[in-house]
Order: sequence, then C-alpha cells, then structure tokens
Amino acid sequence: MNAIAYAHDHRQEADDRLRDLLSIPSISTLPENRESVELAARWLVEELKGAGLENVTISPTKGHPVVYADWLHAEGAPTVLIYAHYDVQPVDPLDEWETSPFDPTLRHGNLYARGASDDKGQLMVHVRALDALLQSTGRLPVNVRVLFEGEEEIGSVHLDEWLEANRERLAADVALISDSHILSPDQPTIVYGLRGLAYIEVHVRSAKGDMHSGTYGGAIHNPIQALCELISQLHDEEGHITVPGFYDQVVPLSEAERREMARVPYGEAELLAETGALKAWGEPEYTVTERVSARPTLELNGIWGGFTGQGAKTVLPAKASAKISMRLVPDQDPWQMAERVRRYLRAIAPPTIEVDVVDLHHGYGALVPTDTPAMQAASDAYEEVFGNRPIFVRTGGSIPVVSSLQRLLGLDTVLMGFGLPDDNLHAPNEKFNLNLYHKGIETAIAFYEKYGRVS
Ligand code: BES
Ligand code: MN
Ligand code: MN
Repeated sequence: MNAIAYAHDHRQEADDRLRDLLSIPSISTLPENRESVELAARWLVEELKGAGLENVTISPTKGHPVVYADWLHAEGAPTVLIYAHYDVQPVDPLDEWETSPFDPTLRHGNLYARGASDDKGQLMVHVRALDALLQSTGRLPVNVRVLFEGEEEIGSVHLDEWLEANRERLAADVALISDSHILSPDQPTIVYGLRGLAYIEVHVRSAKGDMHSGTYGGAIHNPIQALCELISQLHDEEGHITVPGFYDQVVPLSEAERREMARVPYGEAELLAETGALKAWGEPEYTVTERVSARPTLELNGIWGGFTGQGAKTVLPAKASAKISMRLVPDQDPWQMAERVRRYLRAIAPPTIEVDVVDLHHGYGALVPTDTPAMQAASDAYEEVFGNRPIFVRTGGSIPVVSSLQRLLGLDTVLMGFGLPDDNLHAPNEKFNLNLYHKGIETAIAFYEKYGRVS
C-alpha cells in the first residue's frame, strides 16, 4: 500500500490523535500551565515513537522542553528539518468561545480548539505524514530531523541557545515549517518573508505614590497624560514612525517585488471586510498588502494606569505603563530597534516624569530564497494535491526560528502552510479545517517523496 492510501484509510485515527493533543492546555506564557506544557511534550515523544521515529528525546531548557527525533536511513537523499511549536496562546476572553477551548469540537468540518491551527494541527500534519510513510513503506524518502518547540508563542527565548548546543543534531539541507496560512482553500501559499519582533514595556512614574487628585491635581504631571504625550510622538499624522533611525536598516522593496505583491488578491476591500474596520490607516505611499507584510510597524498592545474599576475615583495616579511591540523587516535588528525607542522616549520625556523601558523579547525577521529545489518540491506537492500552484507572499506575523536557522545554521526554510486566514489564531474560537488537515498530510507526503528525488 502506498502512503497516500494509508493516510486515507487512517483519517479517523489522525483526527483522534489531533483531538488528544488539542485537549492538553499547553499555554506557554502561564506559569500555572507549566505541567501541561510538559505533558504535551511527553505526549509528542510517545506519538513520534509510535510513528517510527528514532532517537526521540525531550530536552529541558531554561524554559519549556524541546522535543527532538530523527530518521536518517535514506542514504544519498537530502535531510529535512521539520520544525513546529506545541505551545499555544492563552484563551481569554473565555466567555466568547462557543465551546470550551480544550474540548476540541467539530462544527461544519472545522475542529475548534485553542492551537487547532496554530500550531498543533499543522504539527500533526507532519507527524501523520511521517507515520503514513513509515507504516506503509517501512521507510522515508528523505532523512528527517524533527524539532518541536514549546516557547514559540513567548518569543522562542531559549531556543537559540539550544540550537547552538545541538548543531550536530540539526545538520540538514532545508527546514520545513507548517505554521502559516494559505490564501483560500484552493489557493496554496508559500510564505517567503516573515517580520521580526521587538517587544517592550514602558513605565512612567511621576511621584512616590498615588495622590488625591483634588489636593495635588494641577501641580503634578499626570503620568497617564505624560505617557499619552510620549506615545503620540511615536508616529506622524500619516503613520510613519518618528523614532530617529527607525527606517535606516530597512531593505527597500524592489519594483519587481512590489509588482509581484500587487498581484496578490488582497487589498483595502478585503482588509475592511475581514476586520470590520471603518477605514484603512497607515503609510500612504504603500499598499495595504505592503503595510501588513513588508513594512515595519510600531504598535501599542496595551496601556494601563490609574483607576479602571466601576464608578468614579478621584485619584492622581503615580504611574502608568504601556506595552509596545514593533514588527520589523529585514535587516532591522530587534535589539537595536528597542534601544532606539528607549533612547528616543528618554530624550523626549519631560523633566516631570521618569521613564523606564523594559525588554520583553526579540526576534529577527527573515526572507528566504524562492528558487531552491525544496521550494520547487513544495510547489509541485501543493499542485498535485490542490490542483493549483502556490503563490508566494510575505506575511506580517513572526516565527523567530526562521531567522535563527539562517543565522546560526545557514539553513533556509520552506513555509508550507495549511491554515486559513479566518482560523482565529490567538483569538476565541480558533479552528482548523479538517479537509485541509488531510490535504496537508497528503501534501507533506508528496513533498517528502519529491524532495527525496533531488540529489
Ligand atoms: N504562527 C504564528 C505566526 C504567523 C501567523 C505566521 C500568521 C503566518 C501567518 C506564530 O505562532 C505567532 O503567533 N508568532 C508570534 C511570535 C511572537 C510571539 C514572537 C507573533 O507573530 O505574534
Ligand atoms: Mn504559530
Ligand atoms: Mn501564534
């Protein structure tokens, strides 16, 4: 029996195994879920062993564990490093979920659960593809190394250290990641650009403690107001970022790339329809597609301070804070960008307040070549299963490991996704389409077979 037929006969089993994994609340950012993250890692160890992978290990890090496995008996064939993450985002607001986030539920062909699309469903695509190949043919057409991470959603903080310490276990010709989406169910999509991320927190303080606003208001600079004044100086009226040097390292978009991007069937109308937003915003000299994928941004993620409970309280707060993240593009260095914002905020801060900028995490953006044998194999595999060749896009999200693999191991990545734009990643009612799950498994099998013929 061939692998595709095997996968087809074992669809129910593939669904059941995915449901099992989705029922483990492996939220990496919450300390109280630590054991669940560990449990998910151990579950994967058993799953990989069951599929027939070898040298399956779980390595502790200073954070959550890394799961590694390999199968290296395809002599003369190339080696693929398969990366995925088994950690998930928090579930709040919980009351907006139609069914419980860790009780995977099937509705209209979609499996609803936290992590369904990001990234457990897409992780299982590869586990099931390897399982189908090994169970049906007893071998793989390529050598594989598997790397499953438990800290992607918190910035992959300990991964670089692990990569550097395990170089010999990571020797490969290409990395393969399914952690992105395709444009529509019939339009396979390969991501060739990801943005980086620098995440900071800004704390403003004016006095040693909260004060009566009647006694002191008018003579003390309100830190919420001061913070807003600072924040309002981070962009100009057109949406350009005003931090000195912010755009210095940005690799400019070539005319050819802009032409290619203009062909992506996405524009202002789609943006407004998807989000319900009133009007588009941002750098007028760039299209919305460019703005959400190939241009850097500086975004306020949260702001707090003072009294926010019910009713009124006449308080003059002593401090206020904001969370700010920057989406970066090659070749912006996340550490340097965070430092530039820190310096700028300090320079423009009035003498009435103290500003403290704390680093949360940093990841580099990446661009990968599209003319490699692995990209060719991925395009052919998509075409075989979906009946259409993929389009190539840059995406606004971040997957820090892609740049780490490039910088530390000289490895390029193929980003072959199977999610959909409306999968509700990081939001209530996350879902993964089961038809795309099974098509994903077939596409992965086809990729391994095609890439195995490259020498
Ligand atoms: N899978 C996403 C990134 C993504 C989203 C790629 C949509 C392509 C399309 C990933 O899990 C993610 O959410 N990354 C975080 C990274 C951060 C926490 C360092 C992000 O982009 O916010
Ligand atoms: Mn992801
Ligand atoms: Mn994510």
